[in-house]
Amino acid sequence: MALFLIYFSGLQGNSCTRVSYPTRTMCVLQGTSVNISCTYSHPPDATLNSTYWFKWRANQEPSDLQSDSEYEGRVEYPVEETGRSTLRITDLRHTDSSEYRFTFKTSQREWKSILHGTTLTVTGLRVEVTPVATVTEGQRVTLTCITSCPLADKPSYIWYQNNGPVTGSENPKNQLVLDPVGLQHAGNYSCSVRNYPHLRSPEETLTTNHHH
Ligand SMILES: *[C@@H]1O[C@H](CO)[C@@H](O)[C@H](O)[C@H]1NC(C)=O
Ligand SMILES: *[C@@H]1O[C@H](CO)[C@@H](O)[C@H](O)[C@H]1NC(C)=O
Ligand SMILES: *[C@@H]1O[C@H](CO)[C@@H](O)[C@H](O)[C@H]1NC(C)=O
Repeated sequence: MALFLIYFSGLQGNSCTRVSYPTRTMCVLQGTSVNISCTYSHPPDATLNSTYWFKWRANQEPSDLQSDSEYEGRVEYPVEETGRSTLRITDLRHTDSSEYRFTFKTSQREWKSILHGTTLTVTGLRVEVTPVATVTEGQRVTLTCITSCPLADKPSYIWYQNNGPVTGSENPKNQLVLDPVGLQHAGNYSCSVRNYPHLRSPEETLTTNHHH
C-alpha cells in the first residue's frame, strides 16, 4: 500500500516539482535594493515556458511583478544558472513589505505554489531620545536609531548633529550615549547606516538647559 502511494504521488509530478527559498524573512532599508532568490526544479519531460515572481495576496491570481505598475522600473530578473531565479527590487518602498513567491509555467501546466516564499520587511530609520528630549547638562542621554526589524547585514550606524557627522560615532550598536550631556550637545540629530549616508532618518531635536 505504501509503495503504491509513493508511485501515485510520483505520477502527479509532485515529487519532482519543487521551489525552495533559502531565506524566509529579510529586513532591508527603505531606498536600498534587495535580491530574493530561490531554486526550483520541474519534471524532466516538461519544457519551461516562463518564470516569474509575484507578490502573494490572499485570494488573488498571481501576476508578474514586471508588469505591475507599482514596481515599474524597479524590478529585474537577473540571468541566473539553470534551476535558480533571483528577484531584484531597487529603490525599496515601505509598501514593498510583503511575501514574494516564484512560479513557472511548463509546457504541461502552470505550477501554483501553496508554499511560503520570502517575506520582505522594508524599514526606515527613526531617532528616539531617552529619557527625554529636553535635558539639563550633566544628565545621561541616549539616542537610539530605530528600525522596525533587525537589518539583515548588521550594519554600522553613523550619527549626525546639525547635519555634520558626529566624530567617532560609527558603531555597530545603534546608540549614541551622551554622558554627561553638555550644552554643546544641543541640536538636531539624525542617523544613517554605513554605505547609505544619503538615507538619513528625520531629525530629532535635543535641548540642553544650564544646570542651576
Ligand atoms: C544583488 O546582486 C547583484 C549581483 O550579484 C549585486 O551586485 C548587488 O550588490 C546585490 N544587491 C544586494 C542588495 O545584495
Ligand atoms: C508552452 O510553449 C509551447 C511552445 O512554445 C506552447 O505550444 C504551449 O502552448 C505553451 N504552454 C503553455 C502552458 O503556455
Ligand atoms: C533644528 O531644527 C529646527 C526645526 O527644524 C530648526 O528650527 C532649528 O534651527 C534647527 N537647529 C539647528 C541648530 O540646526
